[in-house]
Amino acid sequence: MTAMLPAGLVIASLAAVDDPGAAAVDVAYAGARVSVLLTRRGSSIAAFINRCPHAGYPLQCADGRVVVQAGRYIVCGAHGASFEIETGACAGGPCNGEGLTRIPITVRDATVFTA
Ligand code: FES
Repeated sequence: MTAMLPAGLVIASLAAVDDPGAAAVDVAYAGARVSVLLTRRGSSIAAFINRCPHAGYPLQCADGRVVVQAGRYIVCGAHGASFEIETGACAGGPCNGEGLTRIPITVRDATVFTA
Protein backbone atom coordinates (compact mmCIF):
# COMPACT_ATOMS: atom_id res chain seq x y z
CA MET A 1 0.00 0.00 0.00
CA THR A 2 1.53 3.31 -0.98
CA ALA A 3 -1.31 5.70 -0.16
CA MET A 4 -0.20 8.56 2.05
CA LEU A 5 -1.51 8.67 5.56
CA PRO A 6 -3.42 11.65 6.95
CA ALA A 7 -1.81 13.85 9.59
CA GLY A 8 -2.19 13.12 13.28
CA LEU A 9 -2.01 9.31 13.35
CA VAL A 10 0.20 7.76 16.00
CA ILE A 11 3.00 5.77 14.36
CA ALA A 12 4.82 4.61 17.48
CA SER A 13 6.60 5.64 20.63
CA LEU A 14 10.22 6.62 20.06
CA ALA A 15 11.08 3.81 22.46
CA ALA A 16 9.96 1.34 19.77
CA VAL A 17 13.11 1.95 17.76
CA ASP A 18 16.77 1.63 18.77
CA ASP A 19 19.29 4.42 18.20
CA PRO A 20 20.59 3.82 15.60
CA GLY A 21 17.96 1.41 14.39
CA ALA A 22 14.81 0.73 12.44
CA ALA A 23 11.55 -1.02 13.19
CA ALA A 24 8.50 -2.09 11.22
CA VAL A 25 5.29 -0.98 12.89
CA ASP A 26 1.66 -1.29 11.86
CA VAL A 27 -0.46 1.86 11.76
CA ALA A 28 -4.24 1.45 11.77
CA TYR A 29 -5.93 3.51 9.09
CA ALA A 30 -9.28 3.26 7.29
CA GLY A 31 -9.97 -0.20 8.67
CA ALA A 32 -6.64 -1.57 7.48
CA ARG A 33 -3.09 -1.80 8.75
CA VAL A 34 -0.37 0.13 6.96
CA SER A 35 3.15 -1.14 7.55
CA VAL A 36 5.52 1.72 8.33
CA LEU A 37 9.29 1.62 8.66
CA LEU A 38 10.43 3.90 11.45
CA THR A 39 14.13 4.80 11.59
CA ARG A 40 16.29 6.61 14.09
CA ARG A 41 19.84 7.87 14.08
CA GLY A 42 20.52 10.32 16.87
CA SER A 43 18.10 13.20 16.57
CA SER A 44 17.17 12.17 13.02
CA ILE A 45 13.83 10.33 13.01
CA ALA A 46 12.18 9.27 9.75
CA ALA A 47 9.30 7.12 8.55
CA PHE A 48 8.75 5.34 5.25
CA ILE A 49 6.18 3.10 3.65
CA ASN A 50 7.53 -0.35 4.48
CA ARG A 51 7.80 -1.52 0.90
CA CYS A 52 11.06 -2.16 -0.92
CA PRO A 53 11.10 -0.63 -4.42
CA HIS A 54 12.90 -3.69 -5.82
CA ALA A 55 10.16 -6.33 -5.64
CA GLY A 56 7.68 -4.79 -3.23
CA TYR A 57 8.45 -6.84 -0.13
CA PRO A 58 8.48 -5.33 3.35
CA LEU A 59 12.03 -4.62 4.52
CA GLN A 60 12.17 -6.71 7.68
CA CYS A 61 13.55 -10.24 7.87
CA ALA A 62 11.32 -13.25 8.54
CA ASP A 63 11.89 -12.84 12.28
CA GLY A 64 10.58 -9.27 12.16
CA ARG A 65 13.97 -7.66 12.64
CA VAL A 66 15.07 -4.82 10.35
CA VAL A 67 18.77 -5.05 9.51
CA VAL A 68 20.73 -1.82 10.01
CA GLN A 69 24.30 -1.95 8.75
CA ALA A 70 27.04 0.27 10.19
CA GLY A 71 24.34 2.36 11.87
CA ARG A 72 23.64 4.03 8.52
CA TYR A 73 21.97 1.66 6.08
CA ILE A 74 18.73 -0.28 6.11
CA VAL A 75 19.21 -3.58 4.34
CA CYS A 76 16.18 -5.26 2.79
CA GLY A 77 15.70 -8.77 4.18
CA ALA A 78 14.59 -10.13 0.82
CA HIS A 79 17.47 -9.51 -1.60
CA GLY A 80 19.79 -7.08 0.15
CA ALA A 81 18.97 -3.66 -1.34
CA SER A 82 20.24 -0.96 1.00
CA PHE A 83 18.90 2.49 1.83
CA GLU A 84 20.17 5.51 3.73
CA ILE A 85 18.64 5.37 7.20
CA GLU A 86 17.90 9.11 7.33
CA THR A 87 16.55 9.72 3.81
CA GLY A 88 15.55 6.32 2.42
CA ALA A 89 17.68 6.97 -0.67
CA CYS A 90 19.01 3.89 -2.47
CA ALA A 91 22.54 3.09 -1.29
CA GLY A 92 23.16 -0.06 -3.33
CA GLY A 93 21.84 -3.44 -4.35
CA PRO A 94 18.99 -4.33 -6.70
CA CYS A 95 16.77 -1.28 -6.09
CA ASN A 96 18.06 0.38 -9.31
CA GLY A 97 18.44 3.80 -7.72
CA GLU A 98 14.90 3.91 -6.32
CA GLY A 99 14.49 4.92 -2.72
CA LEU A 100 11.85 4.39 -0.06
CA THR A 101 8.67 6.47 0.04
CA ARG A 102 8.92 8.94 2.87
CA ILE A 103 6.04 9.68 5.25
CA PRO A 104 5.99 13.19 6.77
CA ILE A 105 6.19 13.00 10.56
CA THR A 106 6.32 15.09 13.69
CA VAL A 107 7.56 14.06 17.14
CA ARG A 108 5.74 15.19 20.28
CA ASP A 109 6.21 13.90 23.81
CA ALA A 110 8.47 11.06 22.60
CA THR A 111 5.75 9.84 20.23
CA VAL A 112 5.97 9.88 16.42
CA PHE A 113 2.89 11.07 14.53
CA THR A 114 2.12 11.48 10.84
CA ALA A 115 2.27 15.11 9.79
S1 FES B 1 12.48 -6.80 -2.36
FE1 FES B 1 14.03 -5.68 -1.32
S2 FES B 1 15.84 -6.21 -2.32
FE2 FES B 1 14.33 -7.34 -3.36
